[in-house]
Amino acid sequence: MSFITHIPGIQPFQPAEPAPVQKGVGVLGLHEGRTLLLAMNRVAHARPVAACDLSPEKIAATRRELPDLFYTSEYDELLKRPDVDIVAIYTPDQQHGEHIARAFAAGKDVLCTKPLVNSLDDAARILAAGRASGRKLMVGQSTRFFEPFQRQRRDFAAGACGDLELADAHYIHRMDWFYEKSPWAATETDWVFLGLSHPLDLLRWYLGPIESVHAFGRRSDLGARFGVQGFDLYTVNVRSADGRLGRALGHYGCHELPSARNCIELMLYGSRGTSLAQYHDMRYLRTAPDGTEVREDSLYALRHYYFNSEVHGMHYGEFANYLEHFARALVDGTPHAPGLEEGVEVVCLMEAARRSARSGEPVALAPLLEQVGLGHG
Ligand SMILES: NC(=O)c1ccc[n+]([C@@H]2O[C@H](COP(=O)([O-])OP(=O)(O)OC[C@H]3O[C@@H](n4cnc5c(N)ncnc54)[C@H](O)[C@@H]3O)[C@@H](O)[C@H]2O)c1
Repeated sequence: MSFITHIPGIQPFQPAEPAPVQKGVGVLGLHEGRTLLLAMNRVAHARPVAACDLSPEKIAATRRELPDLFYTSEYDELLKRPDVDIVAIYTPDQQHGEHIARAFAAGKDVLCTKPLVNSLDDAARILAAGRASGRKLMVGQSTRFFEPFQRQRRDFAAGACGDLELADAHYIHRMDWFYEKSPWAATETDWVFLGLSHPLDLLRWYLGPIESVHAFGRRSDLGARFGVQGFDLYTVNVRSADGRLGRALGHYGCHELPSARNCIELMLYGSRGTSLAQYHDMRYLRTAPDGTEVREDSLYALRHYYFNSEVHGMHYGEFANYLEHFARALVDGTPHAPGLEEGVEVVCLMEAARRSARSGEPVALAPLLEQVGLGHG
């Protein structure tokens, strides 16, 4: 096994130089949304201008850190502002549909955290609203934008894995602290959206359109104690339209064993090689062409950029990376991903997994895609 302990070219973190044209960002929801605001010193093509939350305490806390923004508890006040080009949405899952539709109606481009929405009705609504407005949307799929997953993608695109044959992803995280902070997580959404949005999006990213899903679910003891309405333990098998296989696992009531298994991992098995990306230890493992295992560990090189030198797991770097990707695409007119249609497709995939876990039967995606307006008929 060879180890890369120093990554050439990685410099200490420096704030980004502002680009000549920057998009103004208004952030809605100041828990995870605060992370995006603070991370914007890493972003060249966007700048923070406004923030909104119903909670005066959240506004006061964010104002102490960023005093020069416009603050409001009224979403319409944020939407009215001409200096807000992009509305970035970090409200609870079940409110995303309403908040996205209103942002489109106000003529704004939209960055929405995962999950994009958590029902097919909302998926249909935002797809129609986005098409009618002609504005752009990007889903803030943070895992795609975390360092090891970016490296894994670059190698994959360069052909290092050969033809992908199996993708295996999981997101496993004990969530009692989350229910205490955000009780809506137990009753207003489902872990297939809140948690499995990470591994299911990764499967869609690598396997392309998914044709069918077979899932099982259960409620953990911890989930039952917090009154979780759906399942908080899922195993999901998928088959892509071109016949390749993927598997996603989610468990939100477990006792973690972090040195054995990071909370998010993506394993790619290809005809020429295998690779593994990990969140949050920031490791990327891969096979070299001669079969040697290569391990890239960028935690100490990049922990300030990704974690603000805080405890593992905050999302400064990923949020900055995806905002920069989206804002630069808007300024330059280049593509961005995952966009509205791909995001809605992943919502259909999550809903198919939820339905399959309820019935125990495989679920085909085509009727769900048709229902939301993504059918090819
Ligand atoms: N890796 C990631 O990208 C990641 C990580 C965690 C959470 N999330 C997502 O971010 C979203 C928010 O999660 P969180 O952990 O910050 O939740 P949270 O409950 O801690 O915070 C939500 C915030 O939104 C505010 N809010 C609620 N309704 C509002 C409204 N109508 N108008 C204005 N403000 C309102 C609340 O006061 C609160 O401050 C969720 O959709 C969650 O799934 C994404």
